[in-house]
Amino acid sequence: MLWILYLVFISIFVKAEQIEERRPFFINCGSDSVTNAEGRKWIGDSLSTGNWSLSFLGIMVSTSSIKGDAEYKFLYKTARIYNTSSHYNFTVPPGSYCVRLHFHPFLFAGFNPNDSLFDVLANNLKLVSNFNVSGEISWRNLINNSSSTSLVKEYFLNVNSYELLIEFLPSSGSFAFVNAIEVIPVPDAIFLGFVRKVGNSGFVAPLGVGGHGLETMYRLNVGGPVISPSFDQLLWTKWETDERYMFSVNAASTMTNISNISYVSPNDSFFAPLLVYETARTMINNEVAEKRFNLSWRFEVDPNFEYLVRLHFCELYYDKPNQRDFRIYINNKTAADDYDVFVKAGGMNKAYHEDYVDAMSMQIDTLWVQLGPDTLASTPGTDALLNGLEIFKLSHNANLAHGPDKINGDEPGAAYKRHKSKSFLAAFSAGFAALITISLASAALFFFKRRNVANQEKPLGWHPLSLHEMMGSTAKARLAKLPLISTSSTPCNRIGRRFSLGEIRAATANFDQSLVIGSGGFGKVYKGEIGNGFLVAIKRANPFSKQGLTEFETEVDLLSKLRHRHLVSMIGYCEEENEMILVYEYMANGTLRSHLYGSDLPSLSWKQRVEVCIGAARGLHYLHTGAETCIIHRDVKTTNILLDENLVAKIADFGLSKPGPTLDHTHVSTAVKGSFGYLDPEYYRKQQLTHKSDVYSFGVVLFEVICSRPVINPTLPKDQINLAEWALRWQRQRSLQSIVDPRLDGDYSLESLRKFGEIAEKCLSDEGRNRPTIGEVLWHLEYVLQLHEAYIQCQVDNSCTKSSLPFADFSFILPDTNKVQGETSSNAEGETISSLQGRSVQSLFY
Ligand SMILES: *[C@@H]1O[C@H](CO)[C@@H](O)[C@H](O)[C@H]1NC(C)=O
Ligand SMILES: *[C@@H]1O[C@H](CO)[C@@H](O)[C@H](O)[C@H]1NC(C)=O
Ligand SMILES: *[C@@H]1O[C@H](CO)[C@@H](O)[C@H](O)[C@H]1NC(C)=O
Ligand SMILES: *[C@@H]1O[C@H](CO)[C@@H](O)[C@H](O)[C@H]1NC(C)=O
Ligand SMILES: *[C@@H]1O[C@H](CO)[C@@H](O)[C@H](O)[C@H]1NC(C)=O
Ligand SMILES: *[C@@H]1O[C@H](CO)[C@@H](O)[C@H](O)[C@H]1NC(C)=O
Ligand SMILES: *[C@@H]1O[C@H](CO)[C@@H](O)[C@H](O)[C@H]1NC(C)=O
Ligand SMILES: *[C@@H]1O[C@H](CO)[C@@H](O)[C@H](O)[C@H]1NC(C)=O
Ligand SMILES: *[C@@H]1O[C@H](CO)[C@@H](O)[C@H](O)[C@H]1NC(C)=O
Ligand SMILES: *[C@@H]1O[C@H](CO)[C@@H](O)[C@H](O)[C@H]1NC(C)=O
Ligand SMILES: *[C@@H]1O[C@H](CO)[C@@H](O)[C@H](O)[C@H]1NC(C)=O
Ligand SMILES: *[C@@H]1O[C@H](CO)[C@@H](O)[C@H](O)[C@H]1NC(C)=O
Repeated sequence: MLWILYLVFISIFVKAEQIEERRPFFINCGSDSVTNAEGRKWIGDSLSTGNWSLSFLGIMVSTSSIKGDAEYKFLYKTARIYNTSSHYNFTVPPGSYCVRLHFHPFLFAGFNPNDSLFDVLANNLKLVSNFNVSGEISWRNLINNSSSTSLVKEYFLNVNSYELLIEFLPSSGSFAFVNAIEVIPVPDAIFLGFVRKVGNSGFVAPLGVGGHGLETMYRLNVGGPVISPSFDQLLWTKWETDERYMFSVNAASTMTNISNISYVSPNDSFFAPLLVYETARTMINNEVAEKRFNLSWRFEVDPNFEYLVRLHFCELYYDKPNQRDFRIYINNKTAADDYDVFVKAGGMNKAYHEDYVDAMSMQIDTLWVQLGPDTLASTPGTDALLNGLEIFKLSHNANLAHGPDKINGDEPGAAYKRHKSKSFLAAFSAGFAALITISLASAALFFFKRRNVANQEKPLGWHPLSLHEMMGSTAKARLAKLPLISTSSTPCNRIGRRFSLGEIRAATANFDQSLVIGSGGFGKVYKGEIGNGFLVAIKRANPFSKQGLTEFETEVDLLSKLRHRHLVSMIGYCEEENEMILVYEYMANGTLRSHLYGSDLPSLSWKQRVEVCIGAARGLHYLHTGAETCIIHRDVKTTNILLDENLVAKIADFGLSKPGPTLDHTHVSTAVKGSFGYLDPEYYRKQQLTHKSDVYSFGVVLFEVICSRPVINPTLPKDQINLAEWALRWQRQRSLQSIVDPRLDGDYSLESLRKFGEIAEKCLSDEGRNRPTIGEVLWHLEYVLQLHEAYIQCQVDNSCTKSSLPFADFSFILPDTNKVQGETSSNAEGETISSLQGRSVQSLFY
């Protein structure tokens, strides 16, 4: 009996001891062998031991050849596929863990990795959702100009029980896969302690992995080379170079240590290998004592999350304090001032780090880290230094995959979602052609903004990026103020990738005519293909078009700051030799106009039309209110509303856009520009641009959508030439259905059409103050859609009575224009516009 008790005792003891040991797991998925490589022992997941198991074996797949990625070649030859939910169950002691998932898609027997779509959860923390590995890899390659074939995702989380479950949940009809999993115990201290919240006057809050999961977004060896995982035998981290994240690399110089360095506390070795601290970036070395610029890095992140920014420092040069004193900014907010690395570390060559937390708000997906002079500091030396930088995303409601609930139909994780949609690229507007852009003041063609003074006091030794030699000096001056080649430290949300002219040539078969999908005063738009199969729209400026230059400038400036589901996204740009080229997402379904008339495309249903208008209104609403500075589009028309492969409407062409009035002004004075037939008569009369000018143009778009005819058709009888006037007359008589597009074939609810017409009518009010805001328009359009859907539903149920509508009565709260203007008379400006038919617009205005 005794020996049995003894055995029980021993086994309990052994088990407990085994469990308390915090050892890493390196799992090679889809494999049944053990591989030793770079100091690590990778165990095939078919060989599960007592301390971990697999709930469902799935399907093992392997490939014989691996292209690209030298790293982990041995790991990526096998994978495990799950066509149903499955989990890895690790028995681990409580504590903090780093979980790394490796993905390397290859053509798995019978499974195309392009079809894979899944969620991954770790102890109920959602790591990814609707994850398309191939899509993510293609997107990264596009952005980074790389050709990687694999992807590693890294997370930190806390295990409270003895169980770590990593679940793979394929989307319905799809499958999940994984090539390797690492589970590495990390000291709790790695994310413990207190952290400063930026912009909250030094408010210090506890940070623990306990309450959060974290995802590593960026890990950079600032000023140094790539550090591969084998140099970090504790956490096996990989450190990227920082150059491509720098706003202006020329502003910085790199340095390396000149003597031995060490950690402030020996336990700090977990935070980063010493290698990271051996190199750094400082402000460019020049003779100017006063360095009036910032070192800036910017990162694409998902909006609506909090981020932990970890800065690694080590003073490599000065052996006394007060030699280098700077300020740290995160997202334009001061995170620290009078920052002296020597003082903070307690000496030279001492490695340590500093953490800050900041929240990204709605719609902002660029995180800025800047180091700059502290003018208030008493120190003589203004210089900054940074050795390493990490950015971690903090989970929100146990979710790292999606932002908190959205408003305005806006998507969190825009960058991620953008490429998740099946073919996210599409045709750029063909609408440059045939549209008359009127310009009242020729001076407008040459409008300049003064460069800010700081730019002119640029330090010596500065190397402005290459400007085209062929370009005239005015053009150069203008280009020089573009953010993308700005030599100043002015922050700019530029994330787009820079393409070489060679790449653009390759993408467009050397600007082949057959690939032209649009053209205009600015230049031509080509359909192109970048990387492996990404379709893009490439807008190439005519280098001799002065107007084009201004518009290019405006567009780059604006687009780089804007990102929204209903705005066409800019992917990148190219400015090389004499070229100015913008690369956009390709909109598969072309312009809204091409679906209304003038092409053989099938007609849109009433529901589709209303949805397109809602999408376009959302995009405009974002421009007017959502962006950092409000923006007036100035050229709203059906050729600037593009449709993607799912007929999602996106606003394009910001060439004429202007920042809107500030709070203390209700308008901006400007030369009248815009497209004929859509132009706001009030703007044209007073030369004062307001948001309501866009609302007017949008009203014309609404009528165009109903009637499917050009806004100006000179071949028609005089009273029908101008769509706005003509349709407005029918609308005022409440008989819009007489001029509705016959192709709709009566397939719409009369009530929704009536409401739609009312909205268009209000938009066309003569005076801007009587027009609704675009937000109100949006709201009412959504109501139109509901009316129509209720009608469809009751047709299905065969229960169409008035009372079956979901809303009994819905009072229209828009301002009533009829009080302001006569029932039938069209205003004087309207007449002017319509009387312009057939004449040369240019001659009239100059
Ligand atoms: C899991 O258990 C095996 C023996 O059963 C042991 O060799 C291995 O070290 C354990 N792994 C971990 C990570 O604890
Ligand atoms: C998953 O794949 C296996 C092997 O191909 C197959 O037998 C099984 O029916 C599949 N299960 C589902 C849910 O598709
Ligand atoms: C995970 O494994 C442990 C130990 O084998 C077991 O007690 C637990 O029930 C497993 N969890 C799940 C969800 O299968
Ligand atoms: C996956 O899709 C891309 C384009 O989206 C294509 O180039 C590639 O060949 C596809 N891969 C497979 C295995 O079908
Ligand atoms: C994943 O992305 C690839 C490449 O962009 C695409 O070809 C594929 O259709 C996408 N798969 C799914 C299921 O969305
Ligand atoms: C490429 O881009 C992604 C995100 O855009 C980034 O996370 C990644 O680290 C970059 N670098 C490499 C080498 O993939
Ligand atoms: C830089 O620091 C490392 C220690 O991390 C040391 O091995 C190396 O010798 C140092 N370099 C110089 C030039 O002292
Ligand atoms: C740097 O460290 C190495 C050993 O780690 C030592 O031999 C050498 O003397 C140190 N150099 C200096 C300048 O302290
Ligand atoms: C370093 O870690 C050890 C063991 O985890 C701990 O006992 C010690 O207090 C730590 N030292 C410092 C300075 O934090
Ligand atoms: C920071 O300020 C600059 C102008 O001073 C602005 O262009 C930039 O968008 C701002 N960035 C953020 C994140 O607020
Ligand atoms: C550095 O950046 C911060 C935050 O964007 C800004 O407030 C400050 O004016 C910049 N400093 C210089 C010298 O440009
Ligand atoms: C992109 O990468 C290719 C090949 O690595 C290179 O030739 C090209 O110059 C790069 N483009 C840019 C803009 O860096």
